[in-house]
Amino acid sequence: MTPAPRFEMRGVRKTFGSTIALDGVDFSVRDGEVCALVGQNGAGKSTLMSILSGAVAPDAGEMRIDGVPYTPRSPIDARRQGVAMIYQGLSLAPDLSVMENIALGDEPARWGVVKREAMRARAAAALADLGHGDIVPDRLAGDLSPAEQQLVEIARALASGCRVLVLDEPTSSLAHADVHRLFEIVARLRQQGQAVVYISHFLEEVQAVSDRFVVLRDGRVAGEGRTTDAPASAIVELMVGRAVDALYPRSARTVGEVVLDLTGVMPGAATLQLRRGEIVGIAGLLGAGRTRLLRTIFGLEPVISGRIRVGTWEGPASPADRWRQGMGMVSEDRGAEGLAMDLSVADNLTLSRLDGLGPGPFVRPEAQAAAARRWIDRLQVRCAGPRQPIAALSGGNQQKIAVARLLYHDVDVLLLDEPTRGIDVASKAQIYQVLDDVVSNAARPRAALLVSSYLPELLGVCDRIAVMARGRLDAARPVEAWSEHALLMAAAAGQAS
Ligand SMILES: Nc1ncnc2c1ncn2[C@@H]1O[C@H](COP(=O)(O)OP(=O)(O)OP(=O)(O)O)[C@@H](O)[C@H]1O
Ligand SMILES: [Mg+2]
Repeated sequence: MTPAPRFEMRGVRKTFGSTIALDGVDFSVRDGEVCALVGQNGAGKSTLMSILSGAVAPDAGEMRIDGVPYTPRSPIDARRQGVAMIYQGLSLAPDLSVMENIALGDEPARWGVVKREAMRARAAAALADLGHGDIVPDRLAGDLSPAEQQLVEIARALASGCRVLVLDEPTSSLAHADVHRLFEIVARLRQQGQAVVYISHFLEEVQAVSDRFVVLRDGRVAGEGRTTDAPASAIVELMVGRAVDALYPRSARTVGEVVLDLTGVMPGAATLQLRRGEIVGIAGLLGAGRTRLLRTIFGLEPVISGRIRVGTWEGPASPADRWRQGMGMVSEDRGAEGLAMDLSVADNLTLSRLDGLGPGPFVRPEAQAAAARRWIDRLQVRCAGPRQPIAALSGGNQQKIAVARLLYHDVDVLLLDEPTRGIDVASKAQIYQVLDDVVSNAARPRAALLVSSYLPELLGVCDRIAVMARGRLDAARPVEAWSEHALLMAAAAGQAS
């Protein structure tokens, strides 16, 4: 007889207005099992796990933990019953110490002055359990790297006695080396008998960490199986409902005039010429300064030293100037400066918050909606329509709108900072296709500068790649000269010294 699963969800349904997010989902995970939950953007993964972790109430369905009926009334209630969800945007209190964060959620009164030692000991034990006794419990959480913060969140969940741990896209803010450390931690959680749900768009990760996978498609379970038996292509086929053709399309490109010319620009002392008809990638470790370089080019940060020429323009420029010069940017942080969360899909697509150049009050709603609908179709954005507020879209679909906005504005120079973060495999392929179209357009080839931490993407779409390390941006070399290994070695070269 097989033992009861650690948790079990049956016939779970959830609608938001006219959107059916979950349409009768059964999902269960045993203790000591790592189950990957995969699916396209908007398939319902986060909603399903928000229901499990008490943040969202289901319309129908039932849940059990260790065979006992389970109806969490809030995330705190769910934690008390042993279910913890680690969200992608980390949620530690930055001004509190590591140990205070780990104690958080328990009755604060229990942790009076005399109990500080106990608090410290418990934090140290939880961290040691994860193999990271090196993190000092007295440090401020805000001073930790994203990887360390994530670790503290997991330690907090374990310290509060959780038996079910949900990780929603846990590697999206991690550097390459930290991803492997996370895998080790997940393996430890499995050994300790936790039931782990691992949501990811990276099938490489799914294959590295999970025992089993479940595919959601349009709010239903489209298939499941043992990870070791399933090639990535089979999982993608279940996600999309059909076979997907080439992930990285590449048409013949003709390199033209220089549209962006950098000489000794800090950070990175960057010297680089970007020409029409090419995609140049910038690889490097998190914190190498790649985002700051892009922001400096786009006028969001002052030019401290060096020279930037865009087309024939030289000298100081604001983001508004850059839009006028035919340059646009997808920023790494879509919430803070990419999208206006309270506005609709159509408004976000067609109005540019940074430029003030949008058609403004004279915009014709029908024309605007029609334009938005074209991009919604082209990138297969899952939303109720152009008028839906962007905040109601799933993470990956919001990101697609951020990319579509740039394409809508039809700029000549695209600055892309981690543009496909959180985007599912099939939608990535569509974005690469559109990028290839605009860069290889014979009549008017555009140019793109792409910062990415996803090495297969850099190697798949770029014509040249430069690595930022040792505080410098090295010369760009043809993509043929690179491999994943070579990129990693070059990026890490500055670390040891
Ligand atoms: N608060 C909400 N209001 C309206 N619609 C919502 C809300 N939350 C989710 N949805 C819709 O429910 C569907 C499922 O969304 P969900 O966030 O679960 O997808 P996901 O699989 O996590 O996608 P992603 O991979 O992009 O994170 C989507 O169509 C989304 O737009
Ligand atoms: Mg999600």
